Amino acid sequence: MEEKTIILGIESSCDDTSAAVIADGLLLSNVIAGQQVHAEYGGVVPELASRAHQQNIVPVVDTALKRAGVDKHSLSAIAFTRGPGLLGSLLVGTSFAKGMSLGLRCPIVDVNHLQAHVLSHFIRREPTDEVPTFPFLCLLVSGGNSQIILVRSAFDMEILGRTIDDAAGEAFDKCAKVMGLPYPGGPHIDRLAAEGDPFRFKFAKPSVGGFDYSFSGLKTSFLYTLRDAVKAEPDFIERNMAHLAASLQRTIIEILIDKLDKAVKFTGVTTVAIGGGVSANSGVRNAVARYCEEHGLKAFIPAREFTTDNAAMVAIAGYFKYQQKEFCRYDEVPFARLTI
Ligand code: KG4
Repeated sequence: MEEKTIILGIESSCDDTSAAVIADGLLLSNVIAGQQVHAEYGGVVPELASRAHQQNIVPVVDTALKRAGVDKHSLSAIAFTRGPGLLGSLLVGTSFAKGMSLGLRCPIVDVNHLQAHVLSHFIRREPTDEVPTFPFLCLLVSGGNSQIILVRSAFDMEILGRTIDDAAGEAFDKCAKVMGLPYPGGPHIDRLAAEGDPFRFKFAKPSVGGFDYSFSGLKTSFLYTLRDAVKAEPDFIERNMAHLAASLQRTIIEILIDKLDKAVKFTGVTTVAIGGGVSANSGVRNAVARYCEEHGLKAFIPAREFTTDNAAMVAIAGYFKYQQKEFCRYDEVPFARLTI
């Protein structure tokens, strides 16, 4: 019987420690440990993140292997996120992967976190699960990125547009903070928006050329609207929570879809995928699905567990690289900044 290709994926780029196992391209386990320690600071504290990764990584990897029913000695390779991300956090995953690979005498594969987000659409639980065909466009929207990527193959990706200031997730989080919501605010805006009138308030939209995004003008306009309104009506925010959330979410979605539409027309692709933390947003998911339906395009909307940082996407990216025999040397180091 032919031996299976079994990849252990490790993700530690920000504040989620995750490990996953993929056998012959099929997902067997995906374990994610979040970090509560940052909540009281209103954002991720890098030093606390790397310490929490150190505490989590052994039990998370152990659980992923156990849930997959895989013995560590049968691993074909260990894939890890090399960047971009927080350097201290990346170092934990990178060092752990190197140490484990030396102990087991199996190769390591380095993975670009952004490519992994795009490739998350190739995670399958069953051989019959549908995956995108190349070329396709991927709208990658997270706390740190807002990019439109032309994906020609698993490793031939071109960024057509990117944010010139804040990312979409930052716009959600910063506006939510002004409304007094906990960090990260994106999921709270999503929840509140369901109850509000999306056309109650109007906020500024950018006029940036090409396929690039900008969200800082929207943030400023949101801030000024609230500041002026609160002067006249001190309880304005409390009384308008849902309408503010719905109007903010509508504006962010309109900005996202506007450039996506431009890129679809420019490239002539027939498949569109979304990824990154903000692709968990109900409004964004519905808007992209509707846009694709109206334009006769095939849409790939990821399961919510694969929108935020996870090791399943690292494992699938590692699987593709393993098949091409693209291994990583032990003297390679992680990078805080890394483009596709
Ligand atoms: O990809 P991700 O987990 O990591 C970073 O790049 O940081 O994305 C996190 C971002 C945060 O800004 C968070 O508020 C946003 O994704 N997010 C959401 C939702 N879930 C997560 N934004 C809007 N609606 C959501 N449901």
